[in-house]
Amino acid sequence: MSDLAFAVLRTLADGRFHSGEAMAQQLGCSRTLVWQAVHHLENAFGLTVFSVRGQGYRLPEPFSLLDVASIRAGLQPDAANVFTLALADEIDSSNTQLTTRAALGAPHGLVLAAERQTAGRGRLGRRWQMRLGAGLTFSVLWRFERGLSGLAGLSLVVGVAMVRALRGFGVPVALKWPNDVLLDGRKLAGILIELSGDALGPAAVVIGIGLNVSSPGEVDQPVANLADAGFPLQRNQLLAALLNELATVLGQFDRDGFAAFRDEWHGLAAFLGEPVRLSFSHGEPVEGVALGVDDSGALRVETAAGPRVFHVGEVSLRAQR
Ligand code: BTN
Repeated sequence: MSDLAFAVLRTLADGRFHSGEAMAQQLGCSRTLVWQAVHHLENAFGLTVFSVRGQGYRLPEPFSLLDVASIRAGLQPDAANVFTLALADEIDSSNTQLTTRAALGAPHGLVLAAERQTAGRGRLGRRWQMRLGAGLTFSVLWRFERGLSGLAGLSLVVGVAMVRALRGFGVPVALKWPNDVLLDGRKLAGILIELSGDALGPAAVVIGIGLNVSSPGEVDQPVANLADAGFPLQRNQLLAALLNELATVLGQFDRDGFAAFRDEWHGLAAFLGEPVRLSFSHGEPVEGVALGVDDSGALRVETAAGPRVFHVGEVSLRAQR
């Protein structure tokens, strides 16, 4: 039903009325199926669809679907050269899909963006959910020659790319270690990096990004979104801007590692010099003052027992109240 629902959505995306009969004819199916697809848009995808007798169906406003040509139009030459774009209507998770494709030899720079993920994943085993059209969910496959051990700090560098892109639109975002993007102190975007490969040989890295463009619907923590904060950005344009910055920073990270970004990261970070609590998926939380990150991107915290260092992926950070 999702396939047909997306086909109906493509027709309704202009925000005008379309009769069930015309859509049935266009799609080569029955009016009952069109009606079921409209219900799927409402019940499964969370969209509102107006239904008016004699006129047909209409969305409250036009819906801008992800579109390869529009994204490509916003890419600068470096990004256009390095990235291959693929779009999916509905998949389990763009990270899962790219990880599978990486093992099958998918090319460096493959980008997979999904309109809808049925099993989107966050860090520390959390779920990542989003109302259809309310965000960007995409993953990038990047192959590094330097081996897994050279990749410490990569997730922080991806955060730097995101802040550069968003500040380019005037959005005053900051970073929370290891790699959340914050707006007004709340989470706007998250990054999930998954690695496969050898400690020394080539590594395949899947960089997954989820970003709230408008209200994501019900989620389990207070989050920010661009539209409600007064930045009604268009998803295709935003994705292009993120890819432009990613092309630049990933290229430099390949050559110079995290040390080249450390000062910039410190300038963008929230909570530095402030009391923080680090909570772990297992074990007791640790309290202290966040000092900054070292050249591998690990967080340095001054605790009652002295300075300690925490590595990316092990902890989450909360400001103390
Ligand atoms: C986090 O902050 O916990 C990371 C969230 C990452 C979500 C993105 S959405 C695209 C990609 N596919 C996934 O399943 N997860 C990442």
